[in-house]
Amino acid sequence: MESNYKILVADDEQGIRDLLTDLLKDYFEVDTVERGDVILDRLKKGGHEILILDLRLPGMSGQDVLKRIHEDKIKVVVVVITASNDIETAITSMKLGAYDYLVKPFDTDKLMVVLKNIVEKLELESEVSQLREQLGESFRFKNIIGKSSGMQKIFSTLEKVIDTDSTVLITGESGTGKEIIAKAVHYNSNRKQYPFRSIDCSTIPQDLIGSELFGHEKGAFTGAISRKIGKFEIASRGTLFLDEISNLSIEMQAKLLRVLQEKEFERIGGNQLIKVNTRIVTASNRDLREMVRENRFREDLYYRLNVLPVYLPPLKDRREDIPLFIDHFLNKYNSEFGREINIDLKARLYLTNYSWPGNVRQLENVIKRLILLSTQKMVSLDDVTSVLEFEEVGMAAKKKAPADMAVPAPQRIPDGVKTIDEMEKEHLEKMLRHFNFNISTTARALDISRKTMHNKLKKYNIVIKRTAAVEDAGNTEGSGAEHQPGD
Ligand SMILES: Nc1ncnc2c1ncn2[C@@H]1O[C@H](COP(=O)(O)OP(=O)(O)OP(=O)(O)O)[C@@H](O)[C@H]1O
Ligand SMILES: [Mg+2]
Repeated sequence: MESNYKILVADDEQGIRDLLTDLLKDYFEVDTVERGDVILDRLKKGGHEILILDLRLPGMSGQDVLKRIHEDKIKVVVVVITASNDIETAITSMKLGAYDYLVKPFDTDKLMVVLKNIVEKLELESEVSQLREQLGESFRFKNIIGKSSGMQKIFSTLEKVIDTDSTVLITGESGTGKEIIAKAVHYNSNRKQYPFRSIDCSTIPQDLIGSELFGHEKGAFTGAISRKIGKFEIASRGTLFLDEISNLSIEMQAKLLRVLQEKEFERIGGNQLIKVNTRIVTASNRDLREMVRENRFREDLYYRLNVLPVYLPPLKDRREDIPLFIDHFLNKYNSEFGREINIDLKARLYLTNYSWPGNVRQLENVIKRLILLSTQKMVSLDDVTSVLEFEEVGMAAKKKAPADMAVPAPQRIPDGVKTIDEMEKEHLEKMLRHFNFNISTTARALDISRKTMHNKLKKYNIVIKRTAAVEDAGNTEGSGAEHQPGD
């Protein structure tokens, strides 16, 4: 859970304030107050989205704070904390508009689950307005590259059915653009002002998929400590993208089929029928027909999902698109990293004729890496082949890992060989210097989160030194001077 939200913790006990600040500071911006009568003022000034409110506070009681929040129409989600003998009051608080309550001494895991749900709720609420601005912009077909006949055929088929409720099944090798097409289906349709949600069936454990899809009620099973709204329900009137659908267990396949037929379901542990109108788009890089033949995928579900099949050809079968991709990704990463790198003709030809086993994603990574590593304005064929060699070694290592592990390790480590940690530290320092110690930009360039970056800085004891003159706006890492990671 990462968020940009601000939390105000209101509690008169220093110990609780410290504990919560420590617990939450990695995920939120945290402020604290100890008196009830200053909360409203702080909320109005601070623009906090979430308030953790102890009910017994000096100055003004938590209940009165809740009433005032309601009267003054302050937009904040409140989690009430109460002493164990205070359940009655907690329930009254819920009636006054609190989102949830926790009884002291509370389990911090429970608090985190409640906060995670709040973050999801807030994101959902802001989505409609945000999307109205973004959409249309970033996911129009025109922003999807493809002049090859294969891609043109896909665009014209999609255009015809875009505003129907028809399910779409997108197939293609890894990295061919299945997800970007799924999003385009949604953001070009008349469902675009409603949510788009996705579930990757290959990464979520099977026993959690039911609750991700359909949600659950508080107490439905151990660990269900508050109600969860499933993505089917959130994406009602919008689109639900089920990625890598071949990973769905036979049991979940049956349940999904039923919901697709009946357009209604109950949350796990619930008895209220929820009606939905959710468009389903699915993707798979495996051949579902073959899985049907092997009885690993339900035939009836396959036909329901495959109303509109979209097959994305491998990149090597649509080479006319490669020059467009090269320019598209050059633009994208030059502007992201503030560089002006170009690729010379020989190198372009080589890229266009390459076999691209990792498809568009691999091409994108290669261009990104070329821009990051390039010391000259013009990338040459040599630069390209060395980046590709590096990529191939990586891909081969991934594929061959189990076999390679059987090879006995060499007995003696040659002199001067660096450990992986030493190499990582050196690389981090080099990249940080390159980006003038701007942590956000460097983290983005390295494809890691800021949190991971901070952890690594701490681990390697790297000190950040930046010159004030090149400070970029909108970055929250403090200014100029030296600072130790993690503060
Ligand atoms: N036609 C396209 N136009 C612009 N960008 C594209 C196109 N196709 C793919 N991409 C980019 O290539 C990358 C990989 O695409 P995407 O994630 O959609 O592939 P995928 O088929 O879902 O891959 P996987 O099977 O590995 O999940 C993304 O960054 C995406 O934006
Ligand atoms: Mg994908």
